[in-house]
Amino acid sequence: MERNNNVSAEQLARQQEFMKKIREINDEYFNRTGKKKSMFITTFGCQMNAHDSEKLLGMLKEMGYEEAQEEKDADFVIYNTCCVRENAENKVYGNLGYLKHQKRENPEMKIAICGCMMQQESVLQTIKEKYKHVDMVFGTFNLYKLPEIMYINIETKAPVFDIWKEHKEIVEDLPTIRHFKYKASVNIMFGCNNFCSYCIVPYVRGRERSRCPEDILNEIRELAKDGVKEITLLGQNVNSYGLGLGEDITFAKLLRMVNEIDGIERIRFMTSHPKDLSDELIYAMRDCKKVCNHIHLPFQAGNNDILKAMNRKYTKEQYLELVEKIKKEIPDISLTTDIIVGFPGETSSQVDDTIDVIKKARFNGAFTFIYSKRTGTPAAEMKNQVDEKEAKENFNRVLDALNPIIYELNCQKVGKTYKVLADDVSNGDKEYITGRLEDNSLVHFKGDSSMIGQIFDVKITDCKTFYLIGERV
Ligand code: SAH
Ligand code: SF4
Ligand code: F3S
Repeated sequence: MERNNNVSAEQLARQQEFMKKIREINDEYFNRTGKKKSMFITTFGCQMNAHDSEKLLGMLKEMGYEEAQEEKDADFVIYNTCCVRENAENKVYGNLGYLKHQKRENPEMKIAICGCMMQQESVLQTIKEKYKHVDMVFGTFNLYKLPEIMYINIETKAPVFDIWKEHKEIVEDLPTIRHFKYKASVNIMFGCNNFCSYCIVPYVRGRERSRCPEDILNEIRELAKDGVKEITLLGQNVNSYGLGLGEDITFAKLLRMVNEIDGIERIRFMTSHPKDLSDELIYAMRDCKKVCNHIHLPFQAGNNDILKAMNRKYTKEQYLELVEKIKKEIPDISLTTDIIVGFPGETSSQVDDTIDVIKKARFNGAFTFIYSKRTGTPAAEMKNQVDEKEAKENFNRVLDALNPIIYELNCQKVGKTYKVLADDVSNGDKEYITGRLEDNSLVHFKGDSSMIGQIFDVKITDCKTFYLIGERV
C-alpha cells in the first residue's frame, strides 16, 4: 500500500547522517576528556509531549549523550513546552530566566526549546528578543530534525530557529527511549480539527493526521516482544482516528486489532471527544478483554449556551445520554473528565449546570481548570471575560461537588480485590509501591522495586479521595 503520508526514507536517512556526525564529535570529546556529554530534558504538558520527549531522548542517546542527574550539570538542556494554559508558559519563561545564570557559569551549555509553545509567532519573538542565551528553537512538526538543527548550530556557532507552520507527513521509526519498560505510549494520530473556541492545540499541532494501522500494529507487536504489557494509544481525539486514510478503518476496529496482539495485557487510550464517540466504540470496549474499563471523556461545561460558545458540538443532555449508554454496556466503567470554569460569559448559574452534570454522571476523577485566555483563539476575542475572583469561587464550588463523589466511588472498592499493575516505589513511604487498577485508580500497597511491571491481586483496605490503600492477596 502507498504510504504517502509518511516522511520519506531519505529524510530519515539524512537525520541518521547528522546523528552519526554528532556522535563522532562526542566520541572525540570523550577520548580527549574522559567525560561523556550529558543532557537533561524537561517536559511540560500532556502525554503527547511526554511521548515526544521519549523520541528526543532516543535521538540524543544515539548521538552519544548520557542523562545528567541535574539540569545545571548538563551540556545539553531541552525544554519541551506546552501552551494550553498561561501558567504552563510562565513556568517555561521562569526556567529560562534561571538557565541564563547557569549558562554564565557553564558557557558550553547548549539550550534548546521545542514543543507547542514555540509554534506561536509571539513566543518566538519574545525568545529572540529577551532570551538570547537560547541556542536552538524548533516546533512540533519538525522534532525529527533535532540532529540536523544541532549540527547547524555547531557549524555556524549561531542560534538556529526552525519552526514549521504545518506539516502533513508523519515520521515513523524514530529511535525512542521509553520511560517505562513494561508500559508504553503509541501515537495513533496527530493534530486536532475540532477548534474548541478556547483551545490553542489545533493551532500548534496542526490538522488531524492518522498513522497507518499497520505501522501502529507493528510498533505494538515490537513493544510486546520487548516486554511491554500496557499500551496507551494517544491522540487529541482518538474517536476520529482513520478519517482521511482512505481505508476501511475506525478507532473501534483498531482497538479490536490491538486486542489480538499477544503479550499486551492492558490497552488504554486518550482522549475521546463526546461528539464522536460511536456505539461501535462502546461495543469494542465492552467486547475486548484487554481494553481497560476506563474512559476519559471531557465535558468541559454543563450549560448549553456555554457549550455552544465553546464549539463543543454536543448538549448537556446528549452528554448525559452518552454516559448512560456507556454505563449500561460497561457497568464497571470508570469515567473521568476535564472541566473548564470561567469561560467568557459563564455566570454562576451556568456553573450550576456543570455541577448538575457532575452529580448525574458521577465521575471517578476529573481535571478541573480555570479558563485561561489564549491569544489567537476565538474565545480570547470575546468581550465578556469573567472576573478572576468569580471564576475562582465557582471553581471551588465545582471541586466541592466533585470530591465527595470521587471519594464515595473510591470507597466502594474497599474489601474487593483487583488486578494491579505495579508502577513505582511510593514517594512518601519506601516500603510501599504504587500501582494502577484496570480502571486507572491509584493504589498504594506494601512491596518493593522488584515488583515493578508485574500484575498482582490486591485487596483494597482503605480509601482516600485521590488514592486507595491495599494489600497483596
Ligand atoms: N484533546 C483533548 C484535550 C486536550 S487539552 C480533549 O479535547 O479532550 C486538555 C484539557 O485542557 C482540555 O480538555 C481542557 O479542559 C483544558 N483546556 C484547554 N484549553 C484551555 C484553556 N484555554 N483554559 C483552560 N483549560 C483549557
Ligand atoms: Fe483542544 Fe478541543 Fe482539540 Fe481537545 S478537541 S485538543 S480541547 S480543540
Ligand atoms: Fe499537549 Fe500542551 Fe501541546 S496539552 S498538545 S503539550 S499545548
